[in-house]
Amino acid sequence: MISPKVFNRFRKIIYDYSGIALSNEKKELLCMRVRKNMNRLEITDIKDYLEIIETDASGAHIIDLLDAISTNVTSFFREPHHFDLLKERLIEMREAGVGRVRMWSCACSTGEEPYSLALIAQEVFEKTLVDWKILATDISTKVLRTAQDGVYSEKNINGVNFEMLDKYFKRSINGSVHYEISDRIKQRIVFRRCNLADPPFPLNGPLDFVFCRNVMIYFDDAVRAKLLAEINRLLADDGILFVGHAESLTGLVGKFKCIKPTIYNKQRFSNEK
Ligand SMILES: C[S@@+](CC[C@H](N)C(=O)[O-])C[C@H]1O[C@@H](n2cnc3c(N)ncnc32)[C@H](O)[C@@H]1O
Repeated sequence: MISPKVFNRFRKIIYDYSGIALSNEKKELLCMRVRKNMNRLEITDIKDYLEIIETDASGAHIIDLLDAISTNVTSFFREPHHFDLLKERLIEMREAGVGRVRMWSCACSTGEEPYSLALIAQEVFEKTLVDWKILATDISTKVLRTAQDGVYSEKNINGVNFEMLDKYFKRSINGSVHYEISDRIKQRIVFRRCNLADPPFPLNGPLDFVFCRNVMIYFDDAVRAKLLAEINRLLADDGILFVGHAESLTGLVGKFKCIKPTIYNKQRFSNEK
């Protein structure tokens, strides 16, 4: 069991280092999620674990804690209407002769989201010289390692159509069937650790598309508002922001204009240059 005092101390650290706001109902979840870390450290009392976290000069234990508490559910082509619109816009850009396209998957988890963007872009820009790249970031080093490997089980490639699977994945049997994304797709993506609760980010804009999906639900309004202001700063004038289906930006949109449910355009005001 965890006392309210100990829970609040964990809560503060998690909030300070990631912006993730744990509600009171998440006590049991926290205990469950940190158990593996405690076993590794051969600790049975959660108070001792807290002490290690609070005195962690290297930051390594805090990273392990954040790895343990973050929820990483994702899938290829999750919320397909986002990818339909992305494809439409990429085709328009190609037809208009745009030479450079930049995309950011800002809470990329195990990589299915940025690889989905890359598969669409590859199909649209094949046989062109368009310079397109994707930045994929997450706070969890653990998921970033999986993302960089780009190897998925049969269950996890659900959502990738047969043609793409055939063209862009290498099938292997190592105990069970696995699919590895091809190097020409991997090469388009740069993976980095980035804490979305700590802007400004050292990124080079302007970005044409930002996928910030299913992560703002873990933040409070203050963190969300700062993040959205930073995304707005980094987006190109006609750039597009995609958010998760449960992430209403009501009251926070400010400089964004909703163009479809969960899809926003950067809004320009007449007094802006
Ligand atoms: C539910 S997954 C969403 C994955 C993907 N965007 C999607 O919609 O399928 C949430 C991701 O947000 C990441 N995350 C949580 N807090 C974060 C923060 N402060 N900065 C960056 N990433 C964060 C988690 O590590 C996790 O991988």
